[in-house]
Amino acid sequence: NRPAYIFDLDGVLVDTAVFHYQAWKRLANQLGFDFTVAQNEQLKGVSRVESLEKILDWGGVSKTEAEKLALAQQKNDWYLEMVAQMTASDLLPGVLDFLGQASSAGKKISLGSASKNAPLILEKTGIARFFDAIVDGNEVTLSKPNPEVFLCAARKLGFPPEDCLVFEDAEAGVAAAIAGGMDVIGIGEEGALPEANVLVSDLSKLLQEK
Ligand code: BG6
Ligand code: MG
Repeated sequence: NRPAYIFDLDGVLVDTAVFHYQAWKRLANQLGFDFTVAQNEQLKGVSRVESLEKILDWGGVSKTEAEKLALAQQKNDWYLEMVAQMTASDLLPGVLDFLGQASSAGKKISLGSASKNAPLILEKTGIARFFDAIVDGNEVTLSKPNPEVFLCAARKLGFPPEDCLVFEDAEAGVAAAIAGGMDVIGIGEEGALPEANVLVSDLSKLLQEK
């Protein structure tokens, strides 16, 4: 029963993993190698630049810094073509009601995401209004599992870490929350995220009875 809630974006509020997958796969194929769903799993919570580094590594390809910049830009352009089509129907189950109940209950709410596209996605899906603070990949340099993104969100909301509850779907994100001294609700299938305090398949499982 914490006064402050911090939400990861991709995989917790919206299902963008498949968009990331398609854009990275297109890039990998263009470079002459494949990119699997299992590899995509390992990129959850990982920043765009670090994701690219891993993919090039997996493909056994090396690129200059300037080329990497262009490749990351290309991937993001393809990703944004898909994001442009997003609406409230792309929210994961229970998200709208859960955010509504939390804000009615007086919770302070922040985003804690590695994505630089977070503000756009919150606008497209119509949930920006629920957020008292936003911390995303535009202002945080240290990637999860470093706790910086969540500590920064706690600071913006004006609460110490122990008053914050984090909602995460990535292993690295759960580790980041724990490193920051916060409890964490894992979003995932049974058996996933063993370090999370509680595991649910989606936010609809946490709704108060009406
Ligand atoms: C995270 C996703 O939320 O954001 C990662 O889980 C993604 O897959 C990262 O790479 C960065 O996203 P973006 O939108 O800045 O490319
Ligand atoms: Mg996520």
